[in-house]
Amino acid sequence: MQTFHTINGLRQALAAERAQGKRIGLVPTMGNLHEAHLELVRTALSSCDIVVTSIFVNALQFGLNEDWDRYPRTIEVDTHKLEDAGCHYLFHPSDSEMYPNGLDTQSRVICPTMTDMLCGASRPGHFEGVTTVVTKLFNIVQPDEAVFGLKDYQQLAVIRRMAEDLCMPVKITAAAIHREPDGLAMSSRNGYITAAERPVVNVLYNTLQEIANRINEGNQDFSALEGEGKKRIQAAGFRVDYLAICNSRTLEPAAIDDREITVLGALYTSAARLIDNVSLTLENRG
Ligand code: PAF
Repeated sequence: MQTFHTINGLRQALAAERAQGKRIGLVPTMGNLHEAHLELVRTALSSCDIVVTSIFVNALQFGLNEDWDRYPRTIEVDTHKLEDAGCHYLFHPSDSEMYPNGLDTQSRVICPTMTDMLCGASRPGHFEGVTTVVTKLFNIVQPDEAVFGLKDYQQLAVIRRMAEDLCMPVKITAAAIHREPDGLAMSSRNGYITAAERPVVNVLYNTLQEIANRINEGNQDFSALEGEGKKRIQAAGFRVDYLAICNSRTLEPAAIDDREITVLGALYTSAARLIDNVSLTLENRG
């Protein structure tokens, strides 16, 4: 695997690959890689000849009180993991390589409405930071395909919408959520969960799954299901950020006749905010 810190270096290497007709896949990450990220790389490898993984802790998507400065940076271990997974190129730019004119005057990509709800409501500006950096990465790498994890469901939906709205010539692929044996979705922020919280924090996944099962069984009282779910999470000792039953594509509150539904939730532990989701497709009950 070759590592590039500059846009020009990476572009030259990729131009040579593209000239040979190679299909290029991109896996954007912020590093601190775990099994779920490696699964994204493997997903990209299954349909692309060349896989580029980017590691960049993007300040533009962190709020002022968030964990940008303490976000784990583990580049050496990450490099070995990517090599073992069969990744071809690592793009690891500096802040000044990505934002040479600084953050304040950086041009931005805005995807309205969808980014104001759910995670966007408690993290103002977050998705604008994501769509901006992802657009830059798309322009730098010009991938045929880019792979994102389903765990960040709203991020995936926003990026899909952005690529569609702005006619970006890239296929957006979703990779399944990787879970610990008790159901907890793998995340770089799981490192912030305390030993006391760890045995009960899977209440988030269990609650979302329970709601999905109830909807599958025909329950259509979405607001009651959301209310009961919130109580269950609170009873386990966590503050709920949101719990919402949504249309899988638009993320608007689900309507009775929606067939593709995603149940999304976020809770606060003492030192982290964790998110998860469960999607379901309802058979036509005609
Ligand atoms: O999901 C992430 O790790 C980040 O939001 C992404 C897509 C790499 C953009 O910085």
